[in-house]
Amino acid sequence: MTDTHPPEQNPEARWFGFREVAPAERSAKVQGVFANVARRYDIMNDLMSGGVHRVWKQVFVRAVRPRPGERVLDVAGGTGDIARRLHAATGGQAQVVVCDISEPMVGVGRDRAIDRGISPSLAEGGIAHLVGNAESIPLPDRSVDAYTIAFGLRNVTHIDRALAEARRVLRPGGRFFCLEFCPVDAPGLRRLYDLYSFQVIPRLGQLVARDRDSYQYLVESIRRFPEPPALAERMVAAGLSRPRWRSLSAGIVSLHSGWRT
Ligand SMILES: C[S@@+](CC[C@H](N)C(=O)[O-])C[C@H]1O[C@@H](n2cnc3c(N)ncnc32)[C@H](O)[C@@H]1O
Repeated sequence: MTDTHPPEQNPEARWFGFREVAPAERSAKVQGVFANVARRYDIMNDLMSGGVHRVWKQVFVRAVRPRPGERVLDVAGGTGDIARRLHAATGGQAQVVVCDISEPMVGVGRDRAIDRGISPSLAEGGIAHLVGNAESIPLPDRSVDAYTIAFGLRNVTHIDRALAEARRVLRPGGRFFCLEFCPVDAPGLRRLYDLYSFQVIPRLGQLVARDRDSYQYLVESIRRFPEPPALAERMVAAGLSRPRWRSLSAGIVSLHSGWRT
């Protein structure tokens, strides 16, 4: 895809963590990260967060409040943790579709769903898994009731394109939800958080996933992600109205929501 957006509109596109890269190369680098860690991704989430990511995801799914019969699209859905929670929240009555750019991550998620007795077919009440880019989602306009993206948006090269795609696939009145890490501001907490992020997490990545660099990227990418008010403005610019956000765990994570009118 050619890079038609002016770079200042998507300043993150030039950054792979703290390293400056050509926007056209960024996605391949991100895909490399997730191909490397796919098999150890979920265990690493538990270890890094002490299990707290489960609470954040529970709060997220409660906010989405999927209803029976709705179609919910989980973009950058990775190994399907959020998708299975959304599916379970309606007793398997919602049509949940995962879309992620990483074939290895999607493969782990599909296998995990099958192991748990969930069909890979929407027609059979299961969860569908698609390999696709958040910037060009392989679904028709106005085809989903809710769009979710958890810990995914900061990995996307052009955030504004992804937000515009969210609006495109949502039906009028459809709901948008984003869960993402935030740069932490509180000075006391920030020092501790930085110490843990930069000293502990990459070492844990090396020990458990045999990949220090990928986890170094993950902690750096959080520092490059827009603050909640800036993201809210970009949601509105993309046509997602009434943006709201709430902080979880002293601002380590933010839950954003909006609507397609
Ligand atoms: C940190 S994981 C989050 C996975 C899952 N949502 C969760 O909460 O466990 C980020 C995911 O974003 C995916 N991703 C990165 N860039 C993407 C893009 N442009 N389009 C779709 N998915 C993307 C990665 O492949 C990875 O699976």
